[in-house]
Amino acid sequence: MALLELDRVSVSFAGLNALTDVSFTLEAGQIRAIIGPNGAGKSTLFNAITGYIPAHAGTVRFAGRDVRGMLPHRISALGMRRTFQNGGAFASMTVLENVLSGLSQQTASSAIGLLFGLPKARAAERQALARAHALLDLMGIAALADRKTADLSSGQQRIVEITRALAAKADLLLLDEPAVGLSASERDHLMRVLRGLAADGIAILLVEHTIDLVMAVSDCIAVLNYGQLIADGKPEAIRSHPAVLEAYLGKH
Ligand SMILES: Nc1ncnc2c1ncn2[C@@H]1O[C@H](COP(=O)(O)OP(=O)(O)OP(=O)(O)O)[C@@H](O)[C@H]1O
Ligand SMILES: [Mg+2]
Repeated sequence: MALLELDRVSVSFAGLNALTDVSFTLEAGQIRAIIGPNGAGKSTLFNAITGYIPAHAGTVRFAGRDVRGMLPHRISALGMRRTFQNGGAFASMTVLENVLSGLSQQTASSAIGLLFGLPKARAAERQALARAHALLDLMGIAALADRKTADLSSGQQRIVEITRALAAKADLLLLDEPAVGLSASERDHLMRVLRGLAADGIAILLVEHTIDLVMAVSDCIAVLNYGQLIADGKPEAIRSHPAVLEAYLGKH
């Protein structure tokens, strides 16, 4: 059984069909990219999967459960974590605080225990700190731990957001244009991190305009155009797919 399964998912906004009959599957440990021209429906697809907007038709199954109509925080608690196209790191927090804020609710509720000085809660806090520091290391931003997020470059803020999304255990990670504002070396690092996460069994859905990154990192690529899936296949096949070339050449 696939980890994520979309079956004829459709979304419309006041008569505009933003997504029409989109179907695909994603297995654990797979990286699937969603590409397509501006306005094709990529972010809408993420919103429909994660519960931020309702899909008007079709089914979204995650880990064997029908999640269509569920609230975002409930879907997230099932092990689906996301980032946002316009950035979602908390600007006023430090980098470390951002990552800690992404930790699971069990850890957050132990804050009450901490208030009363319970040893179990203190142990949980130590564990949370250790995990946050390990993630900062993994993402290459350990040196920024105590910096205020607002003072970082936009690329670094994006990496903070991804790190926060990783803080809680995730089976599926949805990244909406994670490489925007990243330097070439930050981008290379991100690619290696994504491959590493996939090797650990995490499934990744990636919306990205940087075609080189998409080609290098993805197991399969789905192409959206005007809300419809016009191609779906391995990177080599997508690169030369006639409908894909037409959609891109028609737009740019
Ligand atoms: N909340 C909304 N209300 C009305 N229309 C919307 C809404 N969100 C998206 N749309 C419309 O749906 C279509 C798809 O938008 P979407 O943001 O999903 O595209 P995208 O592929 O993510 O584009 P980009 O590459 O620019 O991020 C567009 O025509 C957009 O204007
Ligand atoms: Mg978008």
